[in-house]
Amino acid sequence: MSELIQALSAQEIAGIDAEIAHVPYRSAVAIEALKIVQAHRGWVSDESLRAIARHLHMSAEELDGVATFYNLIYRRPVGEQVILLCNSISCWIKGCDKIQKRIQEQLGIGLGETTSDKRYTLLPVTCLGACDKAPVLMVGEELHENVDTHSLSRLFDDGGGTSE
Ligand code: FES
Repeated sequence: MSELIQALSAQEIAGIDAEIAHVPYRSAVAIEALKIVQAHRGWVSDESLRAIARHLHMSAEELDGVATFYNLIYRRPVGEQVILLCNSISCWIKGCDKIQKRIQEQLGIGLGETTSDKRYTLLPVTCLGACDKAPVLMVGEELHENVDTHSLSRLFDDGGGTSE
């Protein structure tokens, strides 16, 4: 139990247990448990993943399968804000490649990279469900529609440092 508490805080365990109380079996809260830990730590380390798996009576491999399938669970450290750039068909047609290039120029990072000041991480994502407003991206929790190079300048006008 002490090993579990080291890898998961009491608050995280309480949050997960509150979810477990609503379902017939512990593994049913796998995604919620990962989200709870990510909300506290910004990402889910191997150590945390193993602890969550033990708490849910799952194998680490099973839970890692869930975590890697669900692309909003981060298995590596990310910046304070994650930029999710949609690269599905509507956004592709409307020039998401140009948006990506501009972000790379503006923040000095490519896909999967984090600015040196740890403010931003740029990740590709499949359809964000706002295809009629393509191209679309999210910065943190905020959705930005009909993005163009001018709106990008306003979004990241203070830059973000260079990539690592
Ligand atoms: S294709 Fe980009 S939001 Fe749907």
